[in-house]
Amino acid sequence: MILRHWMDCPIYTYGRLREWRIFTRRQGDTPNAETGEVCFEINTYGRAAVIPGVTTEPATYPNEVYCVGTAGGQGLLHLGSKKIPLRAGTTFFMPPSQRHRFENTGEVELEFIFCRKDPGPSDLKHFDCHHWSEDRPRDQWGQSMQGHWNHVPRGPGAGLLIADIPPRKFSHPHNHPPTIDEIWYVNKGSGWHWMRQEYHVHSPGYALWLEPSELHSLMNPHDENLEFIYCASANEWSRHEAARKPEKLPAAPGALSAALEEKFGAIAAAYRHTGLSIFGVDRHLEEVEQIIKALNK
Ligand SMILES: [Fe+2]
Repeated sequence: MILRHWMDCPIYTYGRLREWRIFTRRQGDTPNAETGEVCFEINTYGRAAVIPGVTTEPATYPNEVYCVGTAGGQGLLHLGSKKIPLRAGTTFFMPPSQRHRFENTGEVELEFIFCRKDPGPSDLKHFDCHHWSEDRPRDQWGQSMQGHWNHVPRGPGAGLLIADIPPRKFSHPHNHPPTIDEIWYVNKGSGWHWMRQEYHVHSPGYALWLEPSELHSLMNPHDENLEFIYCASANEWSRHEAARKPEKLPAAPGALSAALEEKFGAIAAAYRHTGLSIFGVDRHLEEVEQIIKALNK
């Protein structure tokens, strides 16, 4: 878990656009908390701002997708002759090579959280833009899709999501498959990140990147809503899953029992890694281990 405030991060200026780079792609195999080089596949994640009355110079990212979540202010995204309104809660997804400019039409800074990454199999192929107040897409049963417990994504996703945790609720504790980048930026309110046996206060302006194996949950202990901008990238994992072949079960009873032992051992190890103790689960784990031992005799 690495928590960084945008004000502590290096600033880059591109004409009239200012960018604070909070996290970038890692160099080698390990994350670097000092420099923010932590991501598996996100090239740049940060906060950007445009002052009132200003239009930025045209920009293009030829080899990257560009995902943006508006954190505050109001303005326009110029895409050729199209002008797309931006206000707090608008998210957009832009495929590579799209020339664009930002215009701040409001009285305060237009600020947004962004990520840029190489295009991958789980990314959209077209420009997409939504405000959180729009309905989320429905599932096959017509039900509104909800995230982990009380972690409620608002509005259709477009690369980045706006989500919230209502007062005195918390989200479903979970961890992720390897190589997934997940970053949370608190925009309003304040919460506690539960990370295994620790908690960390998460207040506005801070972005948090997670190790995929870390068990985590964002909790809102306050009376106000907690609103955050959620970013995740799972392209490497999508490639891995697409290439995965179903395992064949061995036919011989001895080999079948060894395969069962291996798979069950993996389940037990994953459960014990959480540090949780659920009476019914603990007792059944021990009993199944005894049954497997008896089978192998
Ligand atoms: Fe997560």
